[in-house]
Amino acid sequence: MAKESFLYKGTHFSVNVHSEASLNYAENEFVAFDDDIFNVTYPKSGTNWMIEILSLIKSKGDPSLNNSVPIFDRAPWFEIVDVKEKVESLSRPRIISSHLPHHIFAKSFFKSKAKIIYTMRNPKDVLVSNFHFAKVLSIFEEPKGFQEHMENFVSGNALYGSWFDHINGWLQMKDDSRFFYITYEELLLDLRGCVKRICKFLGQELDDEAIDSVVKNSSFKVMKENKMSNWTTVPSEIFDHAKGSFLRKGVSGDWKNQFTVAQNEYFDAVYQEKIKDLNVKLFWEEN
Ligand code: A3P
Repeated sequence: MAKESFLYKGTHFSVNVHSEASLNYAENEFVAFDDDIFNVTYPKSGTNWMIEILSLIKSKGDPSLNNSVPIFDRAPWFEIVDVKEKVESLSRPRIISSHLPHHIFAKSFFKSKAKIIYTMRNPKDVLVSNFHFAKVLSIFEEPKGFQEHMENFVSGNALYGSWFDHINGWLQMKDDSRFFYITYEELLLDLRGCVKRICKFLGQELDDEAIDSVVKNSSFKVMKENKMSNWTTVPSEIFDHAKGSFLRKGVSGDWKNQFTVAQNEYFDAVYQEKIKDLNVKLFWEEN
């Protein structure tokens, strides 16, 4: 959980990166263009990976911008403080990131033809990734232990609220032609195939060479070495680089190294209960 947080419409935000005004801007004042592309996720689900992929698709595989412009500036989160000008000066089509839950997303989006790419990840891995992230990012309270961290995650006492509410909220749009959902696990399994599906959704035609470049330049290895994408430019008073890296492991199933048998049983029971009305089979449930 954030060190200092506040509630906006029932969801927790951090006073260090959000304000009532920044959230009000995103929800009520921001004007969506029909060609906007929103990169929406619950934190730690592959947000930065999708920024890398979308920026490379926009540049038709040319990595120049990815190698020269920080990832946060290529696709800023439009709900955070002091970002309005940055978002409004983005070149079109704008790529805009967000962790906002569905119920407080930009009202103007719903009246536009803009598109959303919603990336999800096995919540067990989200939880583990988030546990490590909270140890290195200064806006978080240092977690006391994994059990407490899990209980907060499950109860929605977490930045951007409950993972379950996020998924249940956003997947209400699953049949909307402006909404495309994908999982971190699919990206890991077949990045090339996923890039092609994303291009199709966006109506972008890339030749094989351009697709090869998107795949290569958004790989974990290349992103980890790219200082515009690996967060090493974030000052150490905000991100403690001595304690960890942003591109930490980049795998699926790391939760098995962290969960006890009892924690896994508890999480599975909560999961079944909270996701039961979804009527969508999520990739990690079947594979
Ligand atoms: P881990 O902490 O499990 O390694 P977000 O961008 O939403 O904050 O998500 C961060 C997670 O995505 C981290 O997971 C990070 O390593 C992983 N990630 C980022 N880029 C990736 C890539 N190219 N391939 C695989 N995983 C990636």
